[in-house]
Amino acid sequence: MNAAAPFQFHDLAGKTLVLTGVTRGIGRALLPGLLGQGLNLIAVSRGREKLAAIRRELDVDESRLRFFECDLADAAAVDATGRAIVAAGVPVDAVLHNAAIDPRHEFGKIAPAPWDVVWQVNLKSAVTLTQHLLPLLRRSPQGRIIFTGSIVSELGGSYMTAYASSKGALNGLTRALAHELQGSGITVNCILPGAIQVEKEAGTIEAENVLAAWQSVTRRLTAADLLGPLCLLLSQAGGGISGQCLTVDGGVLHPLMSRDVQTARLKTDGYA
Ligand SMILES: NC(=O)c1ccc[n+]([C@@H]2O[C@H](COP(=O)([O-])OP(=O)(O)OC[C@H]3O[C@@H](n4cnc5c(N)ncnc54)[C@H](OP(=O)(O)O)[C@@H]3O)[C@@H](O)[C@H]2O)c1
Repeated sequence: MNAAAPFQFHDLAGKTLVLTGVTRGIGRALLPGLLGQGLNLIAVSRGREKLAAIRRELDVDESRLRFFECDLADAAAVDATGRAIVAAGVPVDAVLHNAAIDPRHEFGKIAPAPWDVVWQVNLKSAVTLTQHLLPLLRRSPQGRIIFTGSIVSELGGSYMTAYASSKGALNGLTRALAHELQGSGITVNCILPGAIQVEKEAGTIEAENVLAAWQSVTRRLTAADLLGPLCLLLSQAGGGISGQCLTVDGGVLHPLMSRDVQTARLKTDGYA
């Protein structure tokens, strides 16, 4: 019985997943579920003390959860971390690029603006780490590359141009890289979360449950809603899925297509 999830993808046991951004939010919340599937984890994140505390909280040793401390905003550090993981000599089967930043900023304001740092953390760090890990992934019988996008790249969003464009770039990267790796045995996919409840939204409008009212599934989604789709993509069961951007958003509704707005048409169209 897996205490962290009501399902088990048995082929994941003993596989090694590299993932970024585990100190909080979705990345932190996914750790018990991923460990519960038997995966060994290599976490690329920053904050030595935070990382040590996480291992204590989860009560796992370095063979199950290993940390490489890295500031993903620092391109040279990302490059060095990629090299260090390869030099560690452990087989790597999969990588999940989870870390991202989403500062709000006005497009017309040229400076100060967060374009470089957002693209570095959200996009370029994922490219560099994947490039380093590629030879290891090629050796895996089940190589997997998973990016984390966002429905913001599809829906838009005010004051989020740097973030939305970085996430849109990941969608294109997913499709193009899946083609380029044809025949390698490696699948490349992107998960596009909708509004996932995380600590940082405490006290914001999202916390007021407003977002849930925009979904077909009218409860707040949590990281647990991402675990199943993620494990499917990592597992043999998902081995036929590549080049895909998989939205996990509870079915976000277009306001004009919502049930309330369209109910009037039931009457005018004569099917009420
Ligand atoms: N939550 C949502 O509703 C939602 C919706 C759509 C997409 N997503 C995507 O899901 C992923 C996780 O989001 P989240 O809500 O969990 O975000 P979060 O709560 O802000 O957590 C982000 C994680 O990324 C790490 N990170 C940020 N900058 C870093 C850097 N320079 N170096 C190393 N690590 C860094 C953070 O570590 P530190 O503690 O060191 O900063 C943290 O562990 C992101 O890709 C996000 O775009 C989330």
